[in-house]
Amino acid sequence: MGTFASPTRSATRPHSKWLDVPWLVFLLGLAVLPPFLDWHKQLILLVIGVVQLAEARLVAHWPRRGPILTVVLKILLATLLIDHTGEMIPTINSSYYPIYFVPVITAALYFGPAATLLWTMVTSAAYSSYLYPALKEYSIDAAGYSALAIRIFFFFLVGMVVNRVVVAYREQSNSYQHLAEQLTETNRALERAHAETRRSERLAALGQLTAGLAHEIRNPLGIIKGSAEMLNQKLASANPLAAELSGYISSEVNRLSALVSRFLDFARPLQAETRPMDVTEVLEKALRPVEEQWHGGKVMVVRAYQKDLPQVPLDATLCEQVFVNLVQNAFEAMGEEGGTLRLEVTERESDNRRGVEVRIQDSGPGISPELREQIFNPFVTTKTAGVGLGLSIVSQIMDEHHGWIRLLDADVRGAGFGLFFPLPKAASN
Ligand SMILES: Nc1ncnc2c1ncn2[C@@H]1O[C@H](COP(=O)(O)OP(=O)(O)OP(=O)(O)O)[C@@H](O)[C@H]1O
Ligand SMILES: [Mg+2]
Repeated sequence: MGTFASPTRSATRPHSKWLDVPWLVFLLGLAVLPPFLDWHKQLILLVIGVVQLAEARLVAHWPRRGPILTVVLKILLATLLIDHTGEMIPTINSSYYPIYFVPVITAALYFGPAATLLWTMVTSAAYSSYLYPALKEYSIDAAGYSALAIRIFFFFLVGMVVNRVVVAYREQSNSYQHLAEQLTETNRALERAHAETRRSERLAALGQLTAGLAHEIRNPLGIIKGSAEMLNQKLASANPLAAELSGYISSEVNRLSALVSRFLDFARPLQAETRPMDVTEVLEKALRPVEEQWHGGKVMVVRAYQKDLPQVPLDATLCEQVFVNLVQNAFEAMGEEGGTLRLEVTERESDNRRGVEVRIQDSGPGISPELREQIFNPFVTTKTAGVGLGLSIVSQIMDEHHGWIRLLDADVRGAGFGLFFPLPKAASN
C-alpha cells in the first residue's frame, strides 16, 4: 500500500493517447460555459489541459515525485478555478466544484487506499478553505453545511471506488507480470535443457567413436612395445644410444597404454555383478599394490574397521578399482612429504537404507573449494600426468552399486571421501 508521499510501486496508470481527446473536449466545454469572458478562468483551464497532457511524461520521468506533483498541481488549479467562477455567489457554491474530482481521481489512480484518503482530505480542505471568506460575508445555514458535507462525502466515495478498481487492476497486472516472468524463466530453462541434451548427444557419439579408436590403438601399441623391447635386447650391447632410445619408446608406450586402458574403463558400459562380500577385504586387496608401488614419502595407514560388519553386495573387481583410484589419489596428494591415510569402515543408515560406509581420509593438502564442485566430472585433473578420469569412473561404479560417493566436509587438513554400499532392501529392514 502506498503512503501519502510515495505512490505504490506499480502505480503506472493505464494511459492511452486518445484518452486525452475527451479530456480536451471536456475542458473546452467548461471554457465556453459562463463566466465565458473571464480570461483567468480560460487560462486556468488551459493550464489544467497542459498538466493533463504532460502528466504521463512527468510520471515517467519522476516515478516517485511525478504523481505527487500532478495531484498537488491539480488541487491548486482546481482551487484557483473555483475562485474565478464563483464571484456572483459565495465562491464555495461555485458550480465548478466537481473539478475537485480531478485531483481526487488522479490520486486514486496513482496511490494506495491510505494515500488516496489523505489526498482526498487535502482536496476537501482546499475546497473548505472557501468557507472562511464565505462566512465573512454570508451566514450559512444548516442546510448549506449539509450540502457542503454531501459534496465532500462524494469526493471520498469516488476516490475510494476508483482506488478500489485501480488496486484490483494493479494486483491483476502484477500477477500477470509475475506469470509472464515465470513463463520466460521456464522457457529459458527448457532451452538450456535442450542445449544440454544436444551437447550430451554429441558427447555420447564422440565417446563411442573415441572408445572405438582407443580400442584400435591398443594392438599397434602392443606391437610397438614388443618391437622396442626386441630392439633393446639386440642392440643394447652394440649401440648404447639405440638402447636408450628404445627404452624411451617402451616407457612412453607404457604411458599411452595406461591412458588407453583408463579411457576404455571410463567408456565401457558398466555391469556390476554383485555378490555379498566383506568390504574391508576388497579394500585391503586394493591397498596392497598401491602401497607396494609407491615411491613417495612414508605413508602411515590407520585402520578403523567396525567389528561384525554385514556383508554387502559388491562387484569385487569394480570395487577394487574404486578403492585403488581413491587410495592412489590419496597417496599422490600426500606426495613426497608422506602422511597418514585413515581408513574407516562402519555400518550406518543413509536415506532410510542400511548399509556400510567406507571413509578414506588423507593428510595431504586437501581439495580447493572451486575444485570440489567439479571433481567427479571427467577430465578434471590438476596432475601433469593425470587423465582426470579416476573419480568419474569411481562415481559411475558407485551408481551401479546403488550407493554413493561424497566428499567429506573439509577437515583441518587433507581430503576425505565417503562411500556408501547399501544392503539389499530385505536385509536392511
Ligand atoms: N585425496 C585427494 N587430495 C587432493 N586432491 C585430490 C584428491 N583426490 C583427487 N584430488 C583432485 O581431484 C582431481 C581428479 O582426480 P581423479 O582421480 O579424477 O583424476 P587424476 O587423479 O588427476 O587422474 P587419473 O585419471 O589418473 O586418476 C585430481 O587431479 C586432484 O586434483
Ligand atoms: Mg586419480
